[in-house]
Amino acid sequence: MNYLCLNGPNLNRLGKREPAVYGHTTLRDLESQLKVLAAEFNASIDCKQSNVEGQLIDWIYEAEDTGVDGIIFNPGAYTHTSIALRDAIAGVSVPVIEVHISNVHKREEFRHHSYLAPVCVGQITGLGTFGYSAALRMFLEG
Ligand code: DQA
Repeated sequence: MNYLCLNGPNLNRLGKREPAVYGHTTLRDLESQLKVLAAEFNASIDCKQSNVEGQLIDWIYEAEDTGVDGIIFNPGAYTHTSIALRDAIAGVSVPVIEVHISNVHKREEFRHHSYLAPVCVGQITGLGTFGYSAALRMFLEG
């Protein structure tokens, strides 16, 4: 089985960006942890990050066309703005789990709404970077 971890805008700065909100784990460390976990299940995971909405959309279609088994997706602020990403997820059969490091429901009101959650398998929010591992485990064991 092969999975994809997609991170959206500003998540390239993980570990440096607002550590009180997002913690000290870097994106590189997070991606290494996911690769180790996938390997324990004889699976693999590709990890990609972009600050560009259209690039994220292209990767979702590429995942569909190459037979990826599941996507773990932290769309960053596009969660709260992007009908285009919602349409992309709705238009593919590959299951997507939406992940947020912070608890978006404890934060500003504009973060409470997700355009993407209704077309995802589910949403994990507020578990820190562990949320990505939880999502991957769900795919691996589910
Ligand atoms: C985030 C939450 C979003 O509201 C925010 O714009 C981010 C990160 C999170 O992981 O907690 O960039 O997706």
